[in-house]
Amino acid sequence: MRNKTNTLSLFNDELFAQEGAEKKGKTTERLERLDLHGELRKKILPLCRLKYGDIWEDPKNGHKVGVLDATKLEDVKKITGNEKAKLVVNDPPYNVPVGSANTKALFKINIKDYLEFSEKWMRNAVLVTDKDAHFYIWLGADYKDNFQPLPDFIIMTRKFGELKPKNFITLRNQRGYGTQKNWMWVRQELLYYVKGSPKFDVEAEYTDIPKILRGYYKEVNGRSTENLERSRSEYIRAGNVWVDVQQVFYRVEENVPGCYAQKPLKAIERIILSATAEGDLIVDFFAHSGTTLIAGEKLKRKVYTFDIDPIFVEITIRRLEHFRKTGRAGWQWRNPFPEIDDKKEKQKWI
Ligand SMILES: C[S@@+](CC[C@H](N)C(=O)[O-])C[C@H]1O[C@@H](n2cnc3c(N)ncnc32)[C@H](O)[C@@H]1O
Repeated sequence: MRNKTNTLSLFNDELFAQEGAEKKGKTTERLERLDLHGELRKKILPLCRLKYGDIWEDPKNGHKVGVLDATKLEDVKKITGNEKAKLVVNDPPYNVPVGSANTKALFKINIKDYLEFSEKWMRNAVLVTDKDAHFYIWLGADYKDNFQPLPDFIIMTRKFGELKPKNFITLRNQRGYGTQKNWMWVRQELLYYVKGSPKFDVEAEYTDIPKILRGYYKEVNGRSTENLERSRSEYIRAGNVWVDVQQVFYRVEENVPGCYAQKPLKAIERIILSATAEGDLIVDFFAHSGTTLIAGEKLKRKVYTFDIDPIFVEITIRRLEHFRKTGRAGWQWRNPFPEIDDKKEKQKWI
């Protein structure tokens, strides 16, 4: 039986495919969960080209990636300068223990401190948002702790009068957390706000799921018509419950070993397509595996992103380089740091 732990699995829990592996963070991948393993971090840190305060500027398409702190205005200004983003999409640590661990990167602190942390980075994020722009935040709720931080966070955002709430999206995971005594927990939350009145491209909302339900009939020009005949598309719109996004796990090409909180590219691409045009600037304060950067690169947008952890920043830059070289959006189960992989077996794709 999986999921014996006492923790919500809001992230890619497929990584912990081996029985009992959760406690040690052991995975099927060639790189273990980086936020957990001190020894592993010591080996990787010398491979990181940036240290705190540094910014890498992409000579090809103008992206920027930095090791910076989202709560510090001077750090944020260092990467954005006077530019403002058409889309700000942030995926902070959720304040929910991830895979039984409370680590520096994916932490759980008391709600008061978490809200203080959140308000600081939110203030900086609002400052770099253009006057007509889209603003997204991924978040979670821990039912074992009064559903925090989701409701507390939502109430806190009311301090930002320039942000207008637009939607509350749920991304449905295929796998989840649950005993036989509760509904399985399969959701991740995405809050959507706007500043001003930005354009929204509804085309981005169409899924590739065909409409299957036939509805009531309506008379058009004296003929009784069926619902599907009159609709704009034969496919359903994603709406605010997204059920068509595959979770990231070690068999998926885009998987980035070592990153336990990776978001699926498809979700970020959907957001980008609905909110921006080619060449627009997108900002993401919590890079981790660099998903927003890769999505932006694929869709010809410019991305400024950063993380407080130099290891995740190195991974983010390597992921872009790897994508440009191979066309692959990740490493599946293989090691993004082959330099430290002592098992020199052929790293075949599975
Ligand atoms: C939930 S993950 C983001 C996942 C990302 N969307 C992806 O798809 O890979 C949160 C990240 O925030 C970073 N982080 C934590 N505190 C931070 C801070 N003060 N400033 C910038 N990044 C921070 C962590 O190191 C971690 O990599």
